Amino acid sequence: TRLDNFTLIIFGASSDLAARKLFPSVYELAAWGHLPDRYRVIGVGRSNLSDEDFRGLVHEKITLFASNPLQDGEQYKAFLSRLFYVQLDFDDSASYQALYRKIMESGDEGMSGHLLFYLSTPPLLAPVIVKNLAAADLGGKVLPAGDWRKIIVEKPYGQNLQTALELNRIIGEGFREDQIFRIDHYLGKEPVQNIMVFRFSNGIFEPLWNRHFIQSVEITIAEDFGIRSRGAFYEQAGLVRDIIQNHGLQLLAAIAMEPPVDLSSASVRDEKSKLLRSIRPFTRESAIASVVLGQYDGYRSEQNVARDSTVETFAAIRFFIDNWRWKGVPFYMKAGKNLAETVTEMVITFKCPPQNFFGPSESCGITANQVILRIQPEETIAIRFGAKRPGEEMITDPVYMTFDYKKSFTEKGVTPYHRLLLDALTGDQMNFIRQDSVESSWALVDALRDAFHGAEPAPYAIHSWGPEDALRIYREA
Ligand code: BG6
Repeated sequence: TRLDNFTLIIFGASSDLAARKLFPSVYELAAWGHLPDRYRVIGVGRSNLSDEDFRGLVHEKITLFASNPLQDGEQYKAFLSRLFYVQLDFDDSASYQALYRKIMESGDEGMSGHLLFYLSTPPLLAPVIVKNLAAADLGGKVLPAGDWRKIIVEKPYGQNLQTALELNRIIGEGFREDQIFRIDHYLGKEPVQNIMVFRFSNGIFEPLWNRHFIQSVEITIAEDFGIRSRGAFYEQAGLVRDIIQNHGLQLLAAIAMEPPVDLSSASVRDEKSKLLRSIRPFTRESAIASVVLGQYDGYRSEQNVARDSTVETFAAIRFFIDNWRWKGVPFYMKAGKNLAETVTEMVITFKCPPQNFFGPSESCGITANQVILRIQPEETIAIRFGAKRPGEEMITDPVYMTFDYKKSFTEKGVTPYHRLLLDALTGDQMNFIRQDSVESSWALVDALRDAFHGAEPAPYAIHSWGPEDALRIYREA
């Protein structure tokens, strides 16, 4: 689709996210020739920068973080000349007038009629920014024909159910649901988008994809690095809100949802929402029994972290989904900072055959069939099954059949932000989170967090797989 000319307004222009992901993605979209003839990017932030300073900043970040080599001089200069900057005090409604003027100024050929706002700001700032945008007449549910306004809001969307509801109410004053794009970049990852294709374009897996054949599902989102320089953010958020509430539960919804009626964003999001509503809510007792929170050794000495902080950097959780497909199947989720490896994967373990004739042991444990969807670092899908070990004895060993994106396709994948920015520009909401799903996810997470309120997370050694105690959630299922 041909894109309308537009203006992209990035709040939080000096954020880590803007530097690492947003500028490189916009640049990549431009370099790939995906952007229309006329577009502008306006960076908005508290720092006092000129347009020139801002261009210098974006240039520096693109050099550091863009995957593509720089284009030839002229094209690249043209790209930089489309960047502008507005200094703004987020709390001060009067300062939004300067933004308004900048947007309207020489915003010809559709650029000032098509506005995409991107809130790359801490969650606490979102309400006031949206309120001020609406007051400055920059939102707009009713617009001249052909014009549009859209807003992308970064996770975490609110800090709990109550603030998410409040944020939604405030955004709702300036934008309709079809104008709101709640982003979770995991949904832009190629292998995550492939989950639906794997499940629903193949005949051999889906008939087995239920409680009759599946023993358990395990989702891991592990990182071998700490909180980096995000101490202040982590102290407010913690891992459950940073990773589980969004990335973790979205992966779970993708792997467990029912087939959608069709591929419209409404149908797909209906199924995800239904799935999230089917997850068994935690009571205090069930949370204590099925959740282990941890904190890595040395977290309390990180910058901007309280010396007695009880914020978690690890969580292991056992979920159950109370619906016809999944009743009784445990869904384990483990996520953490400073773990042994950086890996995101989903392991679906199938039930053992009714009798096992072959050694080495009575149970099929080590050779149980699995489908392993690895999201990163490798992008692979492996199927594990038992095969006869060569030799005189009848002994089974686990072996793997593996599909690897890099080996099977020559096409280059696109980065999540590249993909999702393009979706927002075209208006495709399928891979953005609808408000009802945000609410269901928060309801679960709030109950879980309440149960642990103020409790000491279990300590764990850096580069381990988390606290020992986490193993108990597997045993007690
Ligand atoms: C972000 C979290 O949403 O996702 C970070 O705030 C985390 O804490 C990151 O490191 C992981 O993203 P990715 O794409 O590197 O797996």
